[in-house]
Amino acid sequence: MTLNVLFLTAEAEPFVKVGGLGDVAGALPDAIRNLSNTFPKSKNVDIRVVLPFHFAVKQKGFKPKLLGEFGVNSSEGLVNCQVYYYDKEGLPVYLLDGDPIDEKSPVYSLEPIHDGYKFVFFSLACLGLAKFLDFRVDILQANDWHTATAIYALKTREIPSPHLSKTKTILSLHNLPFMGFGVQKALTDYGLPPSENTVLPEWARHAPLPLGLLHADRIIAVSPHYAEEILTPEFGCGLEDFLNTRKSALQGIVNGLDLDLWDPVTDKVIAQNFSNDDLSKRPINKLDLLQEFNLSQDENIPLLTLISRMDAQKGIDIALKGLKYLKDSPWQAIILGTGNPTIEQMAVDLENEFPEKVRSIIGFDGKLAHRLYAGADIFMMPSRYEPCGLSQMISMRYGCVPVARATGGLVDTITPVTRKVDGGTGFLFDKPYPSVFATTMRRAIRFYQKPGLWKKIQNNGMKIDFSWENSAQKYIDTYYRFANNI
Ligand code: GLC
Repeated sequence: MTLNVLFLTAEAEPFVKVGGLGDVAGALPDAIRNLSNTFPKSKNVDIRVVLPFHFAVKQKGFKPKLLGEFGVNSSEGLVNCQVYYYDKEGLPVYLLDGDPIDEKSPVYSLEPIHDGYKFVFFSLACLGLAKFLDFRVDILQANDWHTATAIYALKTREIPSPHLSKTKTILSLHNLPFMGFGVQKALTDYGLPPSENTVLPEWARHAPLPLGLLHADRIIAVSPHYAEEILTPEFGCGLEDFLNTRKSALQGIVNGLDLDLWDPVTDKVIAQNFSNDDLSKRPINKLDLLQEFNLSQDENIPLLTLISRMDAQKGIDIALKGLKYLKDSPWQAIILGTGNPTIEQMAVDLENEFPEKVRSIIGFDGKLAHRLYAGADIFMMPSRYEPCGLSQMISMRYGCVPVARATGGLVDTITPVTRKVDGGTGFLFDKPYPSVFATTMRRAIRFYQKPGLWKKIQNNGMKIDFSWENSAQKYIDTYYRFANNI
């Protein structure tokens, strides 16, 4: 029997992308559908994506087809939802519109209540969509707090539609700290009171993410290690005791990488293409950067890079402070990112302190990012927490060796280098301290100075298969295993 999956997301490439969720939602459903199309018909997965028809999507000029309209119940009567359809190379995508969505507001607003009305309406509309489309939903997969309300509503309300009567639910967890606080009024306005279940701490009983986590049949974190970490006080955000009660429903599946977009063999942006077999061409990319940024050229000096959104999660401050401990070591660094002004300023200050070593570029520059992955020797990823992470996979694929915090998906995707390298692909450190970062970086630099060993580390990383097909297979296995009694 074909398995019907409705995949709910606040963002998805190429329609709209704000963060990592946009990458995942723009790639995983396609990979699942394409992979399942190679199976016998009885094993097909008819996965369909639903996202809000945000102002940003309209601005981009997408012209989906209007299919019709239905109403979503609220305390003030029906709120209309318009259903648009877009065929994304064989993947059905539904864009839902309606008054709470059709505003010239950003994808995520700074006003929690505004987001509340938008995403509570959207989540409930996703449930109405099943009937509208006459689509029997076997699995409803929500992502993060924005769509977790769909699970809460499905499990706590009388659902009149036979299309949802046997639906199993999955909540994918990309970022636990964002729980959707401040949207309680939107929930109650749409007839969803706080939960009375005492297994949830009281403060969590009116936020969409905990409510979804309470009721989801399965919880999938975006890496196995993150799935374990959220059971501890350090990463559980106060929900660890509750999450421990849900342990048997919890698993982790690592995200994939778009191998066409990120391929040093075909990358059109970088100065010199290269592969695992001809790494000797790679230094041309480094030279290109050193020249452009006016840094001295010396092949014994490793070029470090950091490409990131600058916020507390990413631990940029740990690396920036850590580098100060290394003032007598040989290194140069190019830092690229934007975000929190305090962290941006720290990056600028580091360049001022080490003008011969550091360049800090405050901003977002996709092309430069490609060139940095291709030309730098070491990639710094000091995240305080990292549910999965993408940059470490890109950097390894480009022969740029990661020095990363041992957290979340970084643990699942980076194999630590041992004394003889073995299968090592990078360097991991445990404590989020600048001094520990510095010690690990010193070790990485020592390896860099032994070109034979360094090449082996690069080769190891470049060989890893980070394809989405790997993840898609795991999702399909999970869907079938857990929907077997449908
Ligand atoms: C969030 C997480 C990141 C993860 C991404 C996609 O942005 O912070 O670690 O890779 O979601 O799942």
